[in-house]
Amino acid sequence: MRVAIIGTGYVGLTTGVCLAYMGHSVSCLDTDASKIQSLCSGQVPIYEPYLEELLEAARPNLRFTSSYSEAIPGAEVVFIAVGTPPTPSGAPNLEYLSQAARMIGEHINSEFTVVVNKSTVPIGSGNWVGSLLRESVEQRRDGSGGDFAVASNPEFLREGAALHDSLYPDRIVIGADEPRALEVLYSLYRPILDQTFQAPTFLPRPETVSAIPLVSTDLASAELIKYAANAFLALKISFINEIGLVSERVGANITEVARGIGLDSRIGSRFLNAGIGWGGSCFGKDTAALIATASEYGLHLPIVEAAKTVNSRQRDRVVEKLLAELKILKGRTVGLLGLAFKPNTDDLREAPAIEIAQKLIDRGVRVKAHDPIAIQRFEREHGDMGVTLCDEPHTVAEGCDALVLVTEWPEYRDLDWEVLAKKMRHPFLLDGRHALDREKLLRAGMQYVTIS
Ligand code: UDX
Repeated sequence: MRVAIIGTGYVGLTTGVCLAYMGHSVSCLDTDASKIQSLCSGQVPIYEPYLEELLEAARPNLRFTSSYSEAIPGAEVVFIAVGTPPTPSGAPNLEYLSQAARMIGEHINSEFTVVVNKSTVPIGSGNWVGSLLRESVEQRRDGSGGDFAVASNPEFLREGAALHDSLYPDRIVIGADEPRALEVLYSLYRPILDQTFQAPTFLPRPETVSAIPLVSTDLASAELIKYAANAFLALKISFINEIGLVSERVGANITEVARGIGLDSRIGSRFLNAGIGWGGSCFGKDTAALIATASEYGLHLPIVEAAKTVNSRQRDRVVEKLLAELKILKGRTVGLLGLAFKPNTDDLREAPAIEIAQKLIDRGVRVKAHDPIAIQRFEREHGDMGVTLCDEPHTVAEGCDALVLVTEWPEYRDLDWEVLAKKMRHPFLLDGRHALDREKLLRAGMQYVTIS
């Protein structure tokens, strides 16, 4: 099928590459010409494992362009995957979405086109995009009409595992109020739903994956599914962090507690890792947007609000733990291991490391940091914060009064902790992710504390 994707961020690019790999003919459009230029030359502007390899494999079916008149006419499906960054009120900024909708309306031809919201958009956006498209079609000077329907197809991919989650998803959700749109999207996703595509060698199909469940529903339900899923995951993490607080006081082991409750199949063991809490572009933004939407209907969401409160308390607990150990923070040096909001990405949006670094700097601490991938991005985006960036974890440790493990990059597990401990002024490590081996750290002469 002929597909156009507007926006080449994490969601747009991953979707485009995966659909092209399925054999569809895909045009990826971005108004940022430099991004398009680098994509044309095979360079991927984001760090995402295997994206470059899959792009190469799908290249014959992929085009990159900045021109709506190249991408849209003749496309059977147009995905809108533009950014919807948060505004100060918590409601997402829909400027890029409305611009994309108008431009699509100007360029679709008279063949039936399904316009799909893939960006995380407020509930009701499907209707709104529909009216923008209609308006734009009606204003055409040439009087040619456009036959279209709007659908919602929320994305559930995790950064760092984006391709795996797109090729082998837990489910595909499609929402539309017109059956024709559901049929088109069903055909589009058929190779993934039936798992009939040849799995790439670098991303083999997990043995447990066969057919993928399809949830086909109305527009509003699909839009709410996305918010409800992210809010639930965020509150699951906040729940274990709240239990962690009790666990610490009563002398329990939160990792064991999480395992004990997670084995109950009604609860499930994923997203129960206690620590400094969630970050990233989705959980904060989507919980805020859900609260904002509910308030438009006069509704208060105490559970979702509490998830946010508990999450921000986890960052304060890092400072409290350091205070308890070092007594005075002013003039101390603290090293952060990890800047990205989670491993396998260089994304720094709402990264806990930034909030923690700022809190420490505000208290007069000198902050040093290392990250295997995100250092350059940090320099570009947060270079003015005053954090000393180091190429090696060993350099971070030098002269530090404490180290905080913020992002559980696998390589941190195998560091030579004895050497690191010796380089520190005070060998104290706060493991913010329960990622390291306590016994090993203690043997290496490091004082080891966790945030439970
Ligand atoms: C999330 C959702 O998982 C995905 O479905 C949605 O489409 C986008 O938002 P992402 O933000 O990429 O994906 O990362 P995710 O793996 O969900 O982690 C989010 C944050 O939660 C990270 O900061 C991570 O460190 C933290 N986390 C995750 C925990 O603190 N504990 C856990 O048990 C799991």
